[in-house]
Amino acid sequence: MKLAIPKERPDGETRVAASPETVKKFVGLGVDVVIETGAGDAAALPDTVFTEAGAKIGASLEETLKDADLVFKVRGPSDEELGLMKQGAVLAATLNPYDNKDRLKTYADKGITTFAMELMPRITRAQSMDILSSQSNLAGYKAVVNAAAHYSRAFPMMMTAAGTIAAARCFVMGVGVAGLQAIATARRLGAVVSATDVRSATKEQVESLGASFVMVESEESGDAAGGYAKEMSEDYQRRQAELVASHIKKQDVVITTALIPGRPAPRLLTEEMVKTMKPGSIIVDLAAERGGNCELTEPGQIVRKHGVTIIGELNLAGQLATDASALYAKNLFNFIAPHLDKESGQLTIDWEDETVTGTALTREGRVIHPSFTEGGN
Ligand code: NAI
Repeated sequence: MKLAIPKERPDGETRVAASPETVKKFVGLGVDVVIETGAGDAAALPDTVFTEAGAKIGASLEETLKDADLVFKVRGPSDEELGLMKQGAVLAATLNPYDNKDRLKTYADKGITTFAMELMPRITRAQSMDILSSQSNLAGYKAVVNAAAHYSRAFPMMMTAAGTIAAARCFVMGVGVAGLQAIATARRLGAVVSATDVRSATKEQVESLGASFVMVESEESGDAAGGYAKEMSEDYQRRQAELVASHIKKQDVVITTALIPGRPAPRLLTEEMVKTMKPGSIIVDLAAERGGNCELTEPGQIVRKHGVTIIGELNLAGQLATDASALYAKNLFNFIAPHLDKESGQLTIDWEDETVTGTALTREGRVIHPSFTEGGN
């Protein structure tokens, strides 16, 4: 059994789908691990840490992928990578299938079995395999740290001989995994934190972290299956906008994280709202990848508009590449390890397992995921 880990080539992708810990674990299970040379450089993981853990180093992409039974990647594969994979290889990565529906047929035609890790079902057993959670958690932390770095004031209240500095007011919109970590981080830095979400279950979570909860009074519930949110009615959206408009004026830092699966990010901050914010305020839009929660966000950019700095950087987890790689790699290990035969070290996938059927896109030349086969949405 050969497991290959190529170097990620897309611009700005610093992560790698292996860590010394996971290499050691796979080698212990009898797997040959080959890491492309330099794959971990951007994550401060030089080739030597992987060889010390028991991996071999592939001198080129071709050598790394040659005859690999299993391939782990962070991003979806390039045409070159696909071309170098053998028929029947198994690939686990972030494949973004909703935005790349045409690509699924290519995987099937090449005879590659693919798993889109971001489709992992939200069941308790799969928490340790959930790449969205592990990466969002880091992104939520980094959003606050970046906000603090751009803010021209301090976060905590400081009483000094020269006068008192007021604590920053931080508002977190969307309290999923990233939002909860953003609240905790902003609190640790000493900010006065408030938060909002459309899912009523988040109220208790927000308050348990010492933040105040701001929510539209409504009978309408934002809860959808699997802990995700649904798109709200127009009436709800109007009332939410009024509430946000009055709250936002008093905020110094706003972290937005609101997402709805398979939909563009909900627009929560309009230009008019931004105009009412104090000069020097900061918005970090973690939903930039899906169009942004703020109307003025420019994905991938840091811009200043109406005196407010709007940070639309993508891949914040990638700014913490070592930790992000370690957690991502562990998610992949936790997903695959139960399917490795303890005697032979061979991969024998249990096609009845919910974590497998939930994430598998293609198998034996066919697209098999119900969301992408005919009749799927
Ligand atoms: P997400 O990234 O899809 O969305 C972020 C947040 O935005 C959510 O809390 C959502 O309710 C909120 N949101 C959506 N539309 C909004 C709007 N118009 N206004 C304000 N907020 C809005 O969510 P994430 O972080 O992936 O997690 C959602 C839930 O799923 C959490 O409760 C988490 O604990 C749970 N979860 C469970 C897992 C498991 O059991 N294996 C794994 C991961 C998460």
